[in-house]
Amino acid sequence: MSAAASILDVADLWVAFPSYREATIYALKGLDLRIAPGEMIGLVGESGSGKTTLARAIMGLVPPPGVIERGQVAFAGLDLRAMDEETRRGLLGRDIAMVIPNPRAELNPVLTVGQQIANIALHHLGVGRKEAMAVALDMLRAVRIPDPERRLHAYPHELSGGMAQRVVIAIALACSPKLVISDDATSGLDVTVQAQVLDLLQSMVRQKGAATLFITRDIAITAHFCSRIGIIYDGQIVEMADTRAFFARPAHPYSIMLLAAFSHNPALRARWTRGDVAIAGQRAGAGCAFAPRCVRRQPRCLAEAPELRTLGFGHQTRCHFPVQAPA
Ligand SMILES: Nc1ncnc2c1ncn2[C@@H]1O[C@H](COP(=O)(O)OP(=O)(O)OP(=O)(O)O)[C@@H](O)[C@H]1O
Ligand code: SF4
Ligand SMILES: [Mg+2]
Repeated sequence: MSAAASILDVADLWVAFPSYREATIYALKGLDLRIAPGEMIGLVGESGSGKTTLARAIMGLVPPPGVIERGQVAFAGLDLRAMDEETRRGLLGRDIAMVIPNPRAELNPVLTVGQQIANIALHHLGVGRKEAMAVALDMLRAVRIPDPERRLHAYPHELSGGMAQRVVIAIALACSPKLVISDDATSGLDVTVQAQVLDLLQSMVRQKGAATLFITRDIAITAHFCSRIGIIYDGQIVEMADTRAFFARPAHPYSIMLLAAFSHNPALRARWTRGDVAIAGQRAGAGCAFAPRCVRRQPRCLAEAPELRTLGFGHQTRCHFPVQAPA
């Protein structure tokens, strides 16, 4: 994929959280990620791997004391880091939208659902009040809220969790953004509602041709909804592949460990998980960040950090000894 074809181009992104008491924490360590228009990329990694930090860095909202130390974040060819605040704010909410969990906290409790969607349309689309309310009603219909004419006048506390999440999606998509970032957005919902909301998000972004960065800890869910999968570990992409290629032949030992964790086969889980807890949690120093937990670790892994390299057909992995055959 060429840089010109990307809607989002993140290159060599480093985000640091300085600390008085301990060494600076690097939440992102030279992360690279490209998303093409219309693509739905699943970004999967365990807690603390840097997923939310990436989402915030793209939005220019890394919380203090965090800082972007280095790297590039380009949206449709525009350098988001160099952009003045007003231009960047204009893009957020209109061209780049974010959906996060806990929809009730996202919604304003004293405004009706209709007013909240209409406000976005008023602000970003430059339409009049009547037209903005018509956009709100259209969006409630699009996200399949039952009885949308009535729900237009409902307050957030009158909605179920699944319905509130649909409203948040309606707000995010009201201006037909070019990039939607969903950060663990459905994790608080029960499984059936989660599947419905994801189905909806997928069909809406397809209709509107938006690219999506779909952030989750649940690798299984990405198989159904994403066109490409990126695996993040300790602030770096360790594997990136088309969904089909990824699930047919995962190459990085961490990816396989994540997949094995979902398997009903205890032997597979045991095979890909190190038992020697004494070294678990130790940092690998100069070597591979995953080495302390890796079942395939060899002396070279402790001495030399692996680069991201291409195995073929856009399938990339950051490992000296990738798995070449089905696990
Ligand atoms: N506000 C902050 N202050 C200090 N350190 C932070 C802050 N936010 C994140 N970090 C550090 O950055 C690392 C990455 O955090 P991040 O929230 O990006 O992880 P995540 O992958 O989104 O995890 P989760 O799946 O739990 O949401 C954390 O381990 C933490 O050490
Ligand atoms: S480089 Fe070595 S330690 Fe790191 S994931 Fe690959 S095999 Fe494991
Ligand atoms: Mg997070």
